[in-house]
Amino acid sequence: MLVTLKEILKIAEAKKIAIGSFNTTGLECCEAVIGAAEELNQPVIIMHAQVHEEMGLTTLDVIGRVMMMMAERASVPVCVHLDHGTDLAYLKKALDLGFTSIMYDGSTLPYAENLANTCVAVEMAKRYGASVEAEMGSMGIRDKSPDDPDSLYTDPEAAVSFVRDSHIDALACAFGTVHGLYFTEPKLDFARLEKIDKLIDIPLVMHGGSGVSDEDYRHVISLGIRKINYYTYMAKAAGSAVVDFPNKLYFHDIAVCATRAMRENARHAIEVFSNLTAAKA
Ligand code: 13P
Repeated sequence: MLVTLKEILKIAEAKKIAIGSFNTTGLECCEAVIGAAEELNQPVIIMHAQVHEEMGLTTLDVIGRVMMMMAERASVPVCVHLDHGTDLAYLKKALDLGFTSIMYDGSTLPYAENLANTCVAVEMAKRYGASVEAEMGSMGIRDKSPDDPDSLYTDPEAAVSFVRDSHIDALACAFGTVHGLYFTEPKLDFARLEKIDKLIDIPLVMHGGSGVSDEDYRHVISLGIRKINYYTYMAKAAGSAVVDFPNKLYFHDIAVCATRAMRENARHAIEVFSNLTAAKA
């Protein structure tokens, strides 16, 4: 059943859990993620990232329709979200397809410009009854703790005015995660996250969410993270399964093998985010 980001994050807040938010770069990803969510009877978010289209993967026009159809017929609440939209015209395309949520990413822009563009995205989404996520601060540098986290990560005080003036539904904050593979264990700035959560009363989002330890997932959820963006390690699980798979002659065998591996990986993530697994002693 199709729901908005605001609605799905209300469920997360009531249960003090995070909703897994998975990039679905093709049909196999959609089947893996929605299959895992239905198996566990948990809400889920599926996302199309603007950058994936630029990498030559399926276009929004095609995969967006597939995502909408699969969300509508799912037995669990599913939000269909546009991830990291840097271009307002692209965000409008997603809304025209029926996406129930968009993320405007102006995090590399100066504060005033990020805020002004986010306000335009909020006004636009309102006309469609959709929700908006925006980002403040930038993700860290892979495998390196920044010399000056204040200059990079989300500034809690600035986040207060940004949320108040933009009227967004969820805030993506930067506190030590990065997109892609981690080669050393990420060091998250929990104190910063705790401060942001105390000052802000809308749900918080963690990007660069795959590859983090289960213990850290539980910790950030206890500090107010309600949406965890997840892709790289699910895609890697598919790649590794295919490498080890003896029968690589036909695409259909490879697709089945990759889908199973992604479903298993997404299932574990959803279990942890939904607090279905007992915390390790
Ligand atoms: P990962 O690269 O850690 O999977 O993060 C995905 C993400 O944050 C998409 O917005």
